[in-house]
Amino acid sequence: MKYSTGAIVLHWLIAVLIALNYIGAWEAEDLAAADKAYAMAGHKAFGMTILALTVLRIIWRLTHRPPPLSPTLKTWEAGLAKTVHSLFYLFTLGVPLMGWALHSAATGGAPVNAFGLFAYPGLPLAQDKGMAGLFHELHETLATLMLVLIGLHVLGALKHQFLDRSGELRRMWFGRGQ
Ligand code: HEM
Ligand code: HEM
Repeated sequence: MKYSTGAIVLHWLIAVLIALNYIGAWEAEDLAAADKAYAMAGHKAFGMTILALTVLRIIWRLTHRPPPLSPTLKTWEAGLAKTVHSLFYLFTLGVPLMGWALHSAATGGAPVNAFGLFAYPGLPLAQDKGMAGLFHELHETLATLMLVLIGLHVLGALKHQFLDRSGELRRMWFGRGQ
């Protein structure tokens, strides 16, 4: 049994954008102020895209039944997989939402530019260094926790694919077949 094509496209698109956003944020830290602002504008635009795609993904998930988990999973593995999957939906909403709030509290609700094409409105927050600092902490902490989830998830997927040889990756990849 495989995931629907829509679920597969959204899974990999969001995964690639998330990877780029971590790399972008880490690389931006060492840049000079003007270059950093430019890099962060990209980070914010990609982040808002991740948020929008996640909303779409949740709607897709609620309207398209996923295949049952592989019967080769032990009970605790199935429990862990379900927990990680559910947490991913929370974190892929929470991390960009906290970024949006951080940006809004730092700028007093300035819009977020989307690649010069259009702008998302800022959240209605007053400019407040303390609040911006709090949202920064939350954004960073949730992003770090999500990295742990990604690690667990990738290890699980690779274990089932290569050690248990259950063809796990095929469930979340394109093409025909079981
Ligand atoms: C930021 C990165 C990623 C996120 C947020 C993510 C999120 C998710 C979520 C939420 C599901 C469950 C879908 C559902 O049932 O609703 C899932 C399934 C899956 N993911 Fe990922 N994923 C990421 C990266 C990866 C990577 C790098 C791999 C491969 C090494 C991978 C392989 C899989 C597989 C094989 C499944 C299907 C599990 C099954 O039901 O058999 N994912 N992923
Ligand atoms: C899933 C999406 C996102 C991921 C994975 C992500 C990840 C990160 C990471 C790892 C950092 C570095 C934390 C640190 O400061 O040490 C960061 C910083 C930051 N992010 Fe995000 N982020 C995402 C979305 C967003 C969004 C949507 C916005 C705003 C609209 C945003 C705005 C920021 C800002 C302003 C910083 C702080 C830069 C600084 O002053 O050092 N992020 N993000």
